[in-house]
Amino acid sequence: MLWLGKNVSKESSPVGSGITKLPYLNRAASPEKGKVVYDTKCKSCHGENGEGLLQPDGIAYSYPPLWGEHSYNTGAGLYRLSRFAGYAKDNMPFNEATHQSPVLSNEEAWDVAAFVNSQPRPVMQQNKNDWPDISKKPVDHPFGPFADGFSESQHKYGPFQPIADARKKH
Ligand code: HEC
Repeated sequence: MLWLGKNVSKESSPVGSGITKLPYLNRAASPEKGKVVYDTKCKSCHGENGEGLLQPDGIAYSYPPLWGEHSYNTGAGLYRLSRFAGYAKDNMPFNEATHQSPVLSNEEAWDVAAFVNSQPRPVMQQNKNDWPDISKKPVDHPFGPFADGFSESQHKYGPFQPIADARKKH
């Protein structure tokens, strides 16, 4: 680990690392609008029911499932809308989108994130020791309790700016 990081100063974050932070929408992200994006730009690989495409060996996926029993669970980073939207904007549709030349608009990225994350998936039990200080939960952490009085739905779908602004005041 020391060797891997030897040319990167501790304070810096190398270009291209992590997930892009998209500007917030000034409304809640919309699963209905996101379904239209999904059907036109994602379904061809990830499937009608988000089931992905299993390889003939029945072990590995060519295209990973995005919902249902084999998809990422509710404890995954992708279950946060900002993580999903930033990842999808820079990387999806696969082999088409890049950071320099994305396919999705910011709106489409947030809305398709809302659609996919409104579908059923494995549930990971929330452990209260995960957040000893609940005021530190990211604005789009979708599970209460919260210290700020905003609803679980707003923490999941937004609008996020009012939550961020309220936090700044405190
Ligand atoms: C041409 C096929 C293709 C299309 C179209 C496509 N994807 Fe993907 N998607 C992939 C592949 C392949 C991966 C695995 C990428 C990897 O592991 O690096 C993937 C991975 C993902 C993941 C990560 C899943 C996980 O569990 O790690 C998400 C989220 C995702 N795609 C969302 C989307 C969205 C949203 C769209 C539409 C805007 C889309 N994809 C369109 C092929 C596709």
